[in-house]
Amino acid sequence: MSDSLYKIAVDYASRAHAPYSKYLVGAALVTNDGKVFGGCNVENSSYGGTVCAERVAILKAVSEGYKNFSEILVYTNSDSPWPPCSICQQTMAEFFSESSKVHLANNKGIQKTMTYKELNPYPFKL
Ligand code: THU
Repeated sequence: MSDSLYKIAVDYASRAHAPYSKYLVGAALVTNDGKVFGGCNVENSSYGGTVCAERVAILKAVSEGYKNFSEILVYTNSDSPWPPCSICQQTMAEFFSESSKVHLANNKGIQKTMTYKELNPYPFKL
C-alpha cells in the first residue's frame, strides 16, 4: 500500500503551484474504507493564502463526504523529509485517529513512518 501511496504523492507533487518557495509537496491520503485522495501545495502571491498539500487532500476528501482517515503519505522534493506543519497537524486532529499512520518521504523513498499520536501527542480539541 505505501509503495502505491508514494507514487501517487510524487505524481501530485508534480502538480504543485509553488513559484515562490519552489518546494513541490504531494500528499496521498487514505480513508478508513480504502479510498485515496491526493493533494499538492498551492501557493499564493499573498503568502498567507498558501495551502499545504496535506490540507488540500484532507479538504478534498471531506468535501466528498469522507471524514475518517487511516493513513497519509507526504512527499517533498527536499533532502530531509518534512513532517506536516502545525496547521496541517491541527486539521489532522479533527479527522485522524491516534493510530492513523503518517509516512514522510523524499525523492529517496519513505524515510519515516509514525502514528498520528507520535506526530502530535497533544492535539487541541474542543
Ligand atoms: N508545505 C506543505 O505543502 N506541507 C507542509 O506540511 C509544510 C509546507 C508547503 C507550503 C509551501 O508551499 C511550501 O511547502 C513551503 O513552505
